[in-house]
Amino acid sequence: MHNVEKSTLVAADSVSARVGSGRRFLLCRPSHFDVTFEINPWMNRENRPDRERSFSEWEGLRQALEGCGAQTFAQDSVEGLSDMVFPADIAVVRGGRFLRAKFRHEERRAEAAYGAAWLTTNGFAELEPLTDAEAFLEGGDVLAFADALVAGHGFRTTRSAHEHMAAVFQSEVVSIQLRDPRLYHLDMSFCPLDSRTAIMAPSAWDEKSRKRVLDLVPDPLVVSEAEAMNFSANSVVIGKNVVMSACSDGLAAALEARGITVVVSSIGEFLKAGGGIRCMTLDLNLGSR
Ligand code: ARG
Repeated sequence: MHNVEKSTLVAADSVSARVGSGRRFLLCRPSHFDVTFEINPWMNRENRPDRERSFSEWEGLRQALEGCGAQTFAQDSVEGLSDMVFPADIAVVRGGRFLRAKFRHEERRAEAAYGAAWLTTNGFAELEPLTDAEAFLEGGDVLAFADALVAGHGFRTTRSAHEHMAAVFQSEVVSIQLRDPRLYHLDMSFCPLDSRTAIMAPSAWDEKSRKRVLDLVPDPLVVSEAEAMNFSANSVVIGKNVVMSACSDGLAAALEARGITVVVSSIGEFLKAGGGIRCMTLDLNLGSR
C-alpha cells in the first residue's frame, strides 16, 4: 500500500552482514502521525508531515535497525495520539521490567497505558508507577551509561521521578539538569556509545551537570550546536553501529576512529514533530549494546 523506499544506508550489504547483538526495539506505525498541537519548539501546525513520506521513512528506519542485527516490533498507533510514533517516551525498560511514563502534557498522557499494555502482553513486568501528582517521567529523558541510569529533568521529567526510578530499579541515577528548550529530552543531547564514549552536547545542560557527565564519561564526543540541532545525539546504538538521521563528516570521522560505523536513515518528516530516531524506538533493554 505504501511506497517503501530503501533507507539511505551506507553500503547496505555490509550492514546486513553484521552479526546480530540481540537488541530489541518497539516502534509504532505512523498511521495517525501528525502535528496538530505544539508542545516543543520544533512543532508548527502549519508544517504538517506528509503521510506517504512518513511511512517510507519509518519503514526505512525499521530496515536500518534490522540491518544492524536488531529485532524490531511494531505497535499500531491510535487515532488522536499523533505523537505515539515516539514510543521511546512511553516507559523505561530494563532487565525485563518497566516503569511506565507519566507524561507532562495532556496531549500524550494516554500513550502510557497503551505502551504498558504492549509491554505486559509481551512478558515485561511492571514496576510501581509514579503516582505523585507533581511528578512526571518521559522515557526520552532516560539513558544508561555503564551501570548507571542517566536522566534529564527540567522540561518534561521532574527530579522527583529520578528518585522513584532509582528506588524501583535499584540503580544509581545520575541527574542532569536540562536548560535548552530545543533539546528538551536528554536523548537529544546525550547518546552513550559504549562504556567509555558518548556523543554529547553539554551546552544543553547546566554547569554542575556538565561536570558530572564529564566525570562519568572517559571519552566524550562533543558535538557542535549545529550537529545537536540536526538530532545527531538522538541516535540508536546497536553493537558497533550507530543509526543516525544525519551525520557531519567530522562526526563520522570521530566515530569511525572509535571503530563505530555510521548508518544514516533519513526521518525528516518526524523531525517536524521534534522527534528523531531515538524517540522513534523504545529500547526493550536499556543499557544493553
Ligand atoms: N512531539 C513529541 C513531544 O514533544 C516528540 C517526542 C520526542 N521524544 C524524545 N524521546 N526526544 O513529546
